[in-house]
Formats: sequence, structure tokens, C-alpha cells
Amino acid sequence: MSKFDKITPEGTKDLLFEECRVRKEIVDGLHASFMESGFHQVITPGFEFYDVFSGAEAYYPQETMYKSIDNRGRVLVARPDSTIPIARLVCSRLKDYPMPLKLYYEQKVYRNNPGLQGRSNEIQQMGVELIGDASFESDVELLALSIEALSTRGLGEVRIELGHVGIFKLLMERLEADPVEKARIHQFISTKNYAALSSKLDKCERDQTTAILREIPKLFGGTEVFERARDLFDGYDKKLIDMLEYLKAIYDALTDLNLEESVIIDFGLVNQADYYSSLVFNGYVSKVGESLLSGGRYDNLLKEFGCDLPATGFAINVDLIADGVLSDAENRRGQDGDRRLRIALTKGRLEKSAIKLFEKMGFDCSGLSDKGRKLFLTVPGQNIDVVFGKAADVITYVEHGVCDMGVVGMDTIMEQGGSFYEVLNLGFGRCRFVLAAPGDSDFYSGYSIKRVATKYPKIARDFFEEKGMDIQVIKLEGSVELAPLLSLADGIVDLVETGKTLSENGLVVVEEIRKISARLIVNETSMKLKKNAIDGFIDSMAEKIEETVCG
Ligand code: PRP
Repeated sequence: MSKFDKITPEGTKDLLFEECRVRKEIVDGLHASFMESGFHQVITPGFEFYDVFSGAEAYYPQETMYKSIDNRGRVLVARPDSTIPIARLVCSRLKDYPMPLKLYYEQKVYRNNPGLQGRSNEIQQMGVELIGDASFESDVELLALSIEALSTRGLGEVRIELGHVGIFKLLMERLEADPVEKARIHQFISTKNYAALSSKLDKCERDQTTAILREIPKLFGGTEVFERARDLFDGYDKKLIDMLEYLKAIYDALTDLNLEESVIIDFGLVNQADYYSSLVFNGYVSKVGESLLSGGRYDNLLKEFGCDLPATGFAINVDLIADGVLSDAENRRGQDGDRRLRIALTKGRLEKSAIKLFEKMGFDCSGLSDKGRKLFLTVPGQNIDVVFGKAADVITYVEHGVCDMGVVGMDTIMEQGGSFYEVLNLGFGRCRFVLAAPGDSDFYSGYSIKRVATKYPKIARDFFEEKGMDIQVIKLEGSVELAPLLSLADGIVDLVETGKTLSENGLVVVEEIRKISARLIVNETSMKLKKNAIDGFIDSMAEKIEETVCG
């Protein structure tokens, strides 16, 4: 049997010399800044009872928590978050302590993250929690502190995006849709998937709630966003306007502190932990491709532990800051800061259509069409670099922020997932995901567990899980139509374009799973820090797609 005595578990790593020194400097700086602002350090245990995280609201999916059993048979988890244990601590040992309480922490959190893609399962976090203070000033104080925390390490421009999750929650309460539909709408808003959101909302009643939800992910940018939101919310529940005005007042207070350059508004910022109740924010810096700070107000969380106390806080990912300091980040994220865009194109079937679309946008694509074996090219006369990669890698490049945008099929997005904005349906690369089986068979008959061959195990599992049907998935790398012919499988889950491969191999469609096409995806940090360049690119691309559809 193999002994795993020379390596570390997936998602963890040893840190050496310089890595430790840089982390220490970052941590020391944050300790000093938090203490100077009057926060006191607490440390909660690495393990908590599972019950702490499984209250009335399940804030973390249980499959993402590392579990263990104590000597009395009770389930323990390695803490996936620091805010919830601090809520527990405040409502137990500190419940009679004079409020407000200003606490900070420096500790690790553990999240089982199956699609690692270079991410860690063990994350060093530092953060603050301000408890028992519901004031406007406390929100402003924390935002100013978060900007200061990100500004000190020379990681380029800092951007804090501000949103109000109460607006989204109120709209979702009013929306007449079942919980599954609501979850999809939530996902489409948080990923700025305008097209999917729009077609989902088309199926709901046409009223002001759906009209606002449709526009919410586009309410993103500088102070002009407030005017657009005011028009949209006009005549709706007054609470919505009150929340908007709260956000505007926060923005104005940050402007008075000369911090407006570091702030961007996003009414579509809804992808935060569910315990947030009103103000939410994320932090970005130009040299790191991912969000490295998140926070907000969570006035209802402590109720779950028996104390009705308002609270607000944020957490910073120390590992990401350290990675930014240590890497030659400027080079990874592309020179020429704000204006230069790097786009990853999927090699193969989607490549030609993507280049055609670029041509329609007025780009000189002679180099791209005739690229030979080159993988990195520059579009002449444009601030645009193009790289070519395999579909799954396009997502990885965009998620990590080494490319600002990517062109990739919906099939890969569904199979791989990830954190990015999915902003445009490009209309090409159209095909269908289907369940297919030999024409002379009845796939759903009989009692035996069916075997399904596929290149897309997640999509196949999700499809059958939703049906409540057990299957055995056999992962193949291609030409999956062969599997039923060789009696390796009873059916396949695969893409069908013309249907030729199916028919020539004696297979028929049993059920269509969904239609798919190519998408434009955008890195979250790039969207915040290169907004004008990216908006211009998306608008021009959308215009050409529209012309193609109408023409
Ligand atoms: C795709 C897909 C099907 C085939 C469908 O495979 O997985 O096998 O195309 O196309 P059709 O309906 O037009 O016949 P691809 O050609 O990408 O090769 P692979 O199976 O080796 O991955």
C-alpha cells in the first residue's frame, strides 16, 4: 500500500522562508492597523461542533466542511468560517460584556473545495467583527478600514464593491417562483448572466419585481448607478428606496473621506454568505485576479445563538495578498494596466466562429487566422492580446485573472463551474446535451442500475440526481458513442450537433438535457478594475451578435 508520508494533502502546502516572511509582514501590519482602530484579538478553536454551522439557516453546504467525530460520538467540523464561531463566542462567554464589542482574529479556515484549480483548502484569514453597533458610522468605519487594509502592500489599485443584499432579498420575497427557480435567478444575478436571467424571468409574471430583477446585475459602476436605480425603484415598496439611500449615504461618506476612487457600486452583489442582511462588500486589487476581502452587515446571525445584536465585519484572505506580493503579478495580469485586455479563446470548434466575430468587431485577425502553433498573439492596433487554450483551461485562466475574458462553451461551464461573470451568449457553437441509447433499447426499463458513459460526469450525475435515479457513470475522454456499441454502457450523456455521430452508430436521443452555445466569461477583478474597457468590448461584441441574429 502507498504511504503518503512525503507529500501534503490536496489544497494544503508547506510554506518556506520568503513565503513565511512576507506573510508575517502582512499579518503584523494588519494586527497593528486593527489594534490601532480599537479592535481586540480573539482566537476560536480550529474545531467546532457541527451544530454551530447547521443552525436555522445552513450557511455552508455540509459537503464543504471537514468533519470528524469526538470521543463521545459527536460530529465536529474544522471551522469553515470565523464569523459564525465569533457569533457563538459573543453569545456565550461574552454575552454580558459591554457593547459595542470590537473583535479581530487571525486564524485559518478550512473548506473542502473539490474543483481546486490551484486554490487552497486551508486559508489564512484576518478579519474584524464589530458587534452591538447598528450605526451608519460603524459601516463607514469598517469600509474605510478595509480600503486601508488593502492599500498598504503595493498591490496596485484597490477597489471595494458595495452592494445591499436587503434589496435582493426583498425582491425575492415578492417574486412568485418556487425555491429552485429562485436559486437559479440568484445564480444568474451573481454571475451577471444577463441572457439566462432574462429568459428565466420571462417565465414569471411581468411586473415591477421582475423588471427590477432583470436590471439589477447591470446596476453596476460609479455614482451614476444611483440615478438609474432610483428610476427603476420608483413607485415600488418604500423600503427599497430607503436601502438605496443608505447605500448612497455610505458612498457619500466615503467620498468625504476622499475614498470614492476606490469604491464601485454593484446592486447585483448577491453572492455573499447568506448571513449578510444589508450592506455587503468585496475587495479587489489590480495585481490579484480574485476577490481577497469580503464583508458586510449581518444583523440576524447572532439571534441564532440567542442574542439579538446587530453586527458587521470583514475578512481578508492573507494567502492571496501574500501570493500577490510574491509573484510577478504585474506580468501575470498584463502590462498597460487598465486598458489592455487579454482574452482566452477555446481552440478547436469554437475558434473559427470567435475569430469571425472579432473580424466583425473590426479587428485585424490575419494573425489569429494564420497563427500556426503560436498560442499567444496580439491584435494589431488594439490593446488586446489573445491566447488559445483547451476549453477547461480557458475557465482556469479567467478564474485566476491571468486572462480578463474567455470564450468557452456552456458545456465546459456546466461541467467545471467556477467564479466568473458569464456576460454574453455568443450564439455560435450551438448544440444540445442529450441522453442517448441504442435505438433498439428502452433505457428506462428494467431494475438494474444503468451505466452511462460520458465526457461530462458532473452533468450526467446532476441530471440523474434530479430525477432521483441511481446510475453508474463511466468517464471516457471522447467518442463516447462507442461505449454502448461495445456493451460498456447502456447509454451516453453527450453533445449532439448534427446528430450524425449518433445515427451512424445506431443511437437515438432518449431525452434532451439542455441546449448550449458559446459564452463570453469575464474575470471578477477585471470587471471591477477595467470596467470601461470591458464594457466597451462587451457592447461592441453584443452589437455584432445582434446584427448577425437579425441580419
Ligand atoms: C462531439 C460530441 C459528439 C459529436 C457530435 O465530439 O462529443 O461525439 O461531436 O457531433 P454531431 O452531432 O455533429 O455528430 P467531438 O467531435 O468534439 O470529438 P470527441 O467525441 O472525440 O470529443
